[in-house]
Amino acid sequence: MENKTKFFQFDTQDVHGEQAMRELGRCMASELGAGDVLGLVGGLGAGKTRLVQGILAGLGCAQVGSSPTFSIVHEHLDGRLPVAHFDLYRLRQMEEVLQIGWDEYLESGMVLLVEWADRFGGALMPQHTVWVQIESVGEETRRVRVHTVCC
Ligand SMILES: Nc1ncnc2c1ncn2[C@@H]1O[C@H](COP(=O)(O)OP(=O)(O)O)[C@@H](O)[C@H]1O
Ligand SMILES: [Mg+2]
Repeated sequence: MENKTKFFQFDTQDVHGEQAMRELGRCMASELGAGDVLGLVGGLGAGKTRLVQGILAGLGCAQVGSSPTFSIVHEHLDGRLPVAHFDLYRLRQMEEVLQIGWDEYLESGMVLLVEWADRFGGALMPQHTVWVQIESVGEETRRVRVHTVCC
C-alpha cells in the first residue's frame, strides 16, 4: 500500500470522455484493498463522481447512482469491499464530518472514496491517503494524476 502511484500503475493519464473515466475507475477498483483511502481532488465537473461510479461498478456495487453532496456520505456494502463515498464540498466545518463518525470510518476498514478531500487543506485525511487529482484539459479530456501527498 505504501506506493499507490505504482500500485495503480500510472502517475498521470489523460482520459477522453466520461465512459473512459468510468473504465479507469473499474481498473483502479481491481487494485483496491480493505482500508484504502482515495482523496479525489478537482473542481466542479472535473469527473470525481464519474470516477467513483467506475470504482463502485468495478467492485460490483449495484447502486452507483448519485453523488452524496447533500448527505456527505453514501455507503455501498454490496460489493467486493465495503465502501463509504464522501463528498466534502458543502462542509463548512470539520466538526460536521466528525459528528457523522469520520474517525470510525477511518478505523472501519472500509474503502473511503472522498470527493473534495483537500477541504481544510487535507487535514481530515489520513497519512496513507492516495490523492487522485483530476484536471480538465479539454472539453472531454481530463488529466488524472495520482500522488501520495496532498495536491
Ligand atoms: N473525460 C471525462 N471524464 C469525466 N467526466 C467527463 C469527461 N468528459 C466530460 N465529462 C463530463 O464532466 C462531468 C463530470 O461530472 P462529475 O463526475 O459529477 O464531476 P465532479 O464530481 O468532479 O463534480 C460530467 O458532466 C461528464 O459528462
Ligand atoms: Mg461530484
